Amino acid sequence: MEITSREAHAVNEEKSGGIVIWLTGMSGAGKSTIARALVARLQTFGCQATMLDGDVLRTGLNSDLGFSDEERTENLRRVAHVAALFSGEGFAAVTATISPEPEHRANARRIVGEANFVEIFVDTPPAICEQRDPKGLYRRARRGEIPQFTGVGSPYHPPLRPDLTVRTHGNSVEYCVDDIVRYLVQARRFGSKLAQIDTTARKRA
Ligand code: ADX
Repeated sequence: MEITSREAHAVNEEKSGGIVIWLTGMSGAGKSTIARALVARLQTFGCQATMLDGDVLRTGLNSDLGFSDEERTENLRRVAHVAALFSGEGFAAVTATISPEPEHRANARRIVGEANFVEIFVDTPPAICEQRDPKGLYRRARRGEIPQFTGVGSPYHPPLRPDLTVRTHGNSVEYCVDDIVRYLVQARRFGSKLAQIDTTARKRA
């Protein structure tokens, strides 16, 4: 059976109903924790969702890359392309990478396409990130053992106009996830998939 171009277009439109939810923030800000919880939440709504974690991708696909600006740029270019593939198949791809420079995030937005890209700043005060230090990396960086560590020997430039900011300090993970889901519904950023959800009932933890 022949598929007309209009039909093919309709299939494409349906397929591109995915989204990339790009979490940016410092190491220890809580990106991976929020990403994991957000994916789980979206799945309970019947959405296809997956997480792309910088730390995990750096053990395989990006294991040839370090932390110079060029290498971070390449790391994030690859993450954006993988996320775009998922999004093209209708998934919500939730990425958790530091992506410290505005250009890194702008590149990702370009690769994914404006319509399918949401930038979320996981805004945790640097001092709190360092105090949490879940992997002991800040301590090692302060001892001079990790030369280009973000927040110590390398800058983090927060987004000036992210689509959404979540604050993990003083708020529970579920509260942050609620905020993100509410944004996706209200801004109609995940097609009709989330449109039916009532996000008003949840309370601050
Ligand atoms: S990014 O800057 O290219 O976006 P990405 O999110 O993939 O970074 O990886 C960050 C993770 O790598 C951190 O959570 C930390 O565990 C680890 N890491 C190792 N060295 C560094 C470094 N110099 N700067 C930042 N993170 C580092």
